[in-house]
Amino acid sequence: MLSSLRDNLTFFRNFRKRFETTGSIIPSSQSLAKSMSRYLAKRGDAPVRVLEIGPGTGPVTRRIVTHLREGDVFDLVELNEEFAAVLQRKFEMEPTWQAVANLSTIHQIPLQEYKPAQGYDFIISGLPMANFPAEMVEELCDKYFEVINPNGVLSYFEYMFMRPIRKVVTAGSARTRITRIDDIMNGHIEQRRIARDNVFVNVPPAWVQHLKGTATETGADEA
Ligand SMILES: C[S@@+](CC[C@H](N)C(=O)[O-])C[C@H]1O[C@@H](n2cnc3c(N)ncnc32)[C@H](O)[C@@H]1O
Repeated sequence: MLSSLRDNLTFFRNFRKRFETTGSIIPSSQSLAKSMSRYLAKRGDAPVRVLEIGPGTGPVTRRIVTHLREGDVFDLVELNEEFAAVLQRKFEMEPTWQAVANLSTIHQIPLQEYKPAQGYDFIISGLPMANFPAEMVEELCDKYFEVINPNGVLSYFEYMFMRPIRKVVTAGSARTRITRIDDIMNGHIEQRRIARDNVFVNVPPAWVQHLKGTATETGADEA
């Protein structure tokens, strides 16, 4: 309770200092975290490699760690040094996190600079893409599909109707930027989506998109 209040305050402070990269006023809800990790929850017995991008203060990480086993690899890429320190403290102090600390590595760098030696079976991303320049969104999406295994699953969230609303209420270069981001994200969704979840219990409500590693002409919507 106290720890979650502390996380909310840390998050809000960073929202004010670094709005563009923090992207939200409070950490994600447990409903959103459950949806983000639902493919990992259905994993088989074989060891898996998991990458979490933009874990923030760790609301989604809290769920991811419950699905990990000995032999897995869990990498976390977080830009913000204050959030990285919060995560580090949790791996040292909280029992469910401590149990997988030996499998887990926090990389305090931007995703753009992260160069893993092997691909991942599950990528779970909290990056606030709608806040970034279109060229950066393109670079970050390329990175997702460079580091995911062909049978891997990428799960990310976006706030409901945020891009469509911004397209209507903005003009000029802001509108061009959001339209370009829409095209990039929708292109990947059309070719790779396996499911989309509506998560209403979150501030604000969100869509969770689940995409597969390999693109096809027709996509593969199953939900
Ligand atoms: C919307 S918050 C999500 C935090 C957390 N996953 C949650 O759901 O509450 C976005 C997170 O992405 C991080 N971030 C933003 N840009 C990044 C980048 N280029 N590379 C790595 N992390 C980044 C921010 O520091 C922040 O922790």
